[in-house]
Amino acid sequence: MGNEAYRTAHAASLDTGDAGRAVRVAGWAERIRDQGGVVFVDLRDATGIVQVVFRPDGGEAHDIAGALKRESCIQVDGVVEARPEGMANPDLASGEVEIEASGIVVLSRAETLPFQLDGRVDVAEERRLKYRYLDLRTTRMTENLRARSTVIQAMRRVLDGSGFLEVETPTLIASTPEGARDFLVPSRLRPGNFYALPQSPQLFKQLLMIGGVERYYQVAKCYRDEDFRSDRQVEFSQLDLEGAFWGQDDVLETLEAIVTQVVKDTRGVDLDRPFPRISYAEAMERYGTDKPDIRFGMEIVDLSAVFEQSEFKAFAGVVADGGVVRAINAGARELSRAGLDALVEQAQSLGAKGLVWMVVQDDGSVRSPVAKFLAPEELAAVVAALDASPGDVLLLVGDIARVAGPVLGQLRLDLGQPLDHDELAFLFVVDFPVFEVTMEGDLVPAHHPFTAPVSVEEMRTNPAEAISKAYDMVLNGSELGSGSVRIHDSDVQAQVFEVLGISRQQAQARFGWFMEALRYGTPPHAGFAIGIDRLVSILRNEINIREVIPFPKTQTGADPLTGSPSRVEGPQLTELGIAIRPEIEAQWAGEAQSESV
Ligand code: AMO
Repeated sequence: MGNEAYRTAHAASLDTGDAGRAVRVAGWAERIRDQGGVVFVDLRDATGIVQVVFRPDGGEAHDIAGALKRESCIQVDGVVEARPEGMANPDLASGEVEIEASGIVVLSRAETLPFQLDGRVDVAEERRLKYRYLDLRTTRMTENLRARSTVIQAMRRVLDGSGFLEVETPTLIASTPEGARDFLVPSRLRPGNFYALPQSPQLFKQLLMIGGVERYYQVAKCYRDEDFRSDRQVEFSQLDLEGAFWGQDDVLETLEAIVTQVVKDTRGVDLDRPFPRISYAEAMERYGTDKPDIRFGMEIVDLSAVFEQSEFKAFAGVVADGGVVRAINAGARELSRAGLDALVEQAQSLGAKGLVWMVVQDDGSVRSPVAKFLAPEELAAVVAALDASPGDVLLLVGDIARVAGPVLGQLRLDLGQPLDHDELAFLFVVDFPVFEVTMEGDLVPAHHPFTAPVSVEEMRTNPAEAISKAYDMVLNGSELGSGSVRIHDSDVQAQVFEVLGISRQQAQARFGWFMEALRYGTPPHAGFAIGIDRLVSILRNEINIREVIPFPKTQTGADPLTGSPSRVEGPQLTELGIAIRPEIEAQWAGEAQSESV
């Protein structure tokens, strides 16, 4: 129970079994109502709410209660009583009882609040974050933080029970490439030198494997200076893990065990195992994305063969040039001409040259701006391939596969809706390519450069097509985490850097220490990292991960509460060997001037 000077019972623990018991409770005055001289106070503590009653004959206690400001911190003495007939509140755990107060102490008075905490009025996020300590008192945030803690506890429980060692790795490090910009921290002892904050503990966990730690995990803070999205923060948490003498299946089975426990503890649901696994190539073909939402169908169908010999030159030409014609059946929907045209515009804004729509009529014929160019057999083949019925809207894109797939994939997400919004559809996407080819034709690692290729030979001779031992975990269309079997051979590692266009000298300068470490008996190893914030936000049905992070940054990377990032005084900079560039100082002076007018 804790310190009895403050309390002898928690709000949500009280029920009719406590009737007649003298208790002391402590918490915050959430609601204060005066009904004909009787003052009712909803006292909230970390467990929930209990109603406290102050009668008019209660003397000083009644007067104090009547003058209370919302959210003041109070302590109440009283006796638990069953609520009168018909007055129970089924929404509260303590709803069958109330406390007849005999005394109240205001431990700390609250000033008028900057916003109400009852969720009845929408509060701008910037304001919520400026007063995050108050926002955290709301039911939404309390429940989100509790879920977050439950998730992390479940993860730890599974891993602790499976022989994993929890190891902390440093956060002032040399830069680790994960594809984003590093946050840099200047060194005072070596002016002009910088630490990087880790984008992930990747290289350290690999060093732990070399160091003989066979099973490692960590709840790790990661830092990436990247643009904001609703599922990204510059500072976020991963459940990072790695195992020696491990392959892909060991990792995926461990992940299934972790996630199953997490879902059981947060949602009370048992997941079916194993989770579905599909290859990257199949995911791209069927869903146009490497993170498919499989809660609904509307899969992409390849119609290239139908149009190979077509008189409809736009599609036949695309296929002849090595492109594809792909389509989705968007289902029966009432769309006006303007609605259909809007879809064409949307496809174009997503990068497609165009979009062909078809609507299946009641008599089975097809209405489409291009119907007149298509043979009846072609139309029939389209209808059959998409399993279309009267009323269905069919959307076709002819383009290179790299465009047609993702465009249809996005339209599918925009038009398709899961039937059951509470469903959790986990899957693994496996067999990722080693490299992605950028628009400029450059190779960049699809995962990170420490991922093992399936064949070193293939990676050298045909890098754009080579497959790696990398895999992702996907939940409801979000990438929850990723990992891979690692390179454990210094020579292979050197070859990957070479194919990436990093010269031996460059690789030596940046990663020489790591390449050397690989040369002292590195065990084969594999691992993964789950994005904890993303997982919790999906489990809580929160669209934005900021809602499950206690003190997140805004879209401009700022914390409105503490004012970070902030300027640093001259002497501190001098000590670090850093000077602010004159144009930035001029900008500051301009801002100061405009603030003063
Ligand atoms: P990766 O870079 O894919 O892999 O990150 C793993 C998971 O971390 C989460 N994540 C983020 N969450 C919030 N905000 C961000 N900015 C952000 N960036 C990533 C995602 C992502 O899937 N070292 C490798 C893992 C490994 O190979 O073991 C890594 O970090 O959910």
